[in-house]
Amino acid sequence: MRFDTPHPVPYQGSKRLLAPAILSFVPPGRFVRLIEPFAGSAAITLAAAKRNLFRKFVIADVLKPLAGLWREILTDPNGIATAYEKLWESQKQADPILRFNQIRASFNRDHDPAKLLFLLARCVKNAVRFNPSGEFNQSADKRRRGTHPTTMAKEIYSAHALLTGRCEVLCGDFRDVLAIAGEEDLVYMDPPYQGTSIGRDRRYIRGVERASMIDLIEGLNARNVQFLLSYDGQCGDKTYGEPLPDRLGARRVLLDAGRSSQATLNGKSHRTIESVYVSQRLAQRDEMSEISAVIHSQATLF
Ligand SMILES: C[S@@+](CC[C@H](N)C(=O)[O-])C[C@H]1O[C@@H](n2cnc3c(N)ncnc32)[C@H](O)[C@@H]1O
Repeated sequence: MRFDTPHPVPYQGSKRLLAPAILSFVPPGRFVRLIEPFAGSAAITLAAAKRNLFRKFVIADVLKPLAGLWREILTDPNGIATAYEKLWESQKQADPILRFNQIRASFNRDHDPAKLLFLLARCVKNAVRFNPSGEFNQSADKRRRGTHPTTMAKEIYSAHALLTGRCEVLCGDFRDVLAIAGEEDLVYMDPPYQGTSIGRDRRYIRGVERASMIDLIEGLNARNVQFLLSYDGQCGDKTYGEPLPDRLGARRVLLDAGRSSQATLNGKSHRTIESVYVSQRLAQRDEMSEISAVIHSQATLF
């Protein structure tokens, strides 16, 4: 499949494929700025910039080297592309798995954004994993060498061109970041779901309690800040996350996110269904029923 929107940061859980469905809820020209406080690969920001839906953007994440990586993409694309190329090429001079482990150990000491980019491109499922001491502990994927530097440089330069001069990068907890949100902003949230941020090998450095999300949404509603939130879902018989209460006034739409690769590996053909909550004022628009019909025809609306 070919994508026109750049996506320089390989990241498990990226919303790249769902971006067209999620962004179909955004009325063009209605908001000035998009704020993405759980940015990860910033797939929604990049897709929204490509469609010119906003004039300004805020990319934020609690993971400091990831925020640092986005800053470098925006301010020094050549520097980060060159640093990635050097790390990638250094695999050729040694046993590649040993070299991956050396770069991972070095990243755990200095938190260098270029090393994070290399580790993400080169590790199993492009998935960040942390041990209880907060060290990156995901293993190298033995079957691949990671994105080729020429492709990576193209992705970096295209993302830079799309966002430079109109995007701010913040590092911090979503609650602090969202203190800046006002009526001219749209907030897109994709918090880690429960179960991926606890236990021995955590997917993310920090989790988000359901109660904090409810508090946050009550605060956004009180300030009349509109939002889209990816939250709970299901794959086969397995559900993840608990739906949010009706009293928050958001409309819950279910999107078909396609066949689960994990289920396919296990010989099953389960589809992943993901929710998106649309804040009350956005959901009340006349166009909403039309939009639902569009999603129904592109994917599946439940
Ligand atoms: C599900 S991923 C987001 C993926 C993203 N939508 C994409 O398309 O790549 C969740 C992100 O939230 C970040 N995160 C976790 N806890 C956070 C918190 N308390 N505040 C801000 N970001 C947080 C993680 O570092 C991770 O990058």
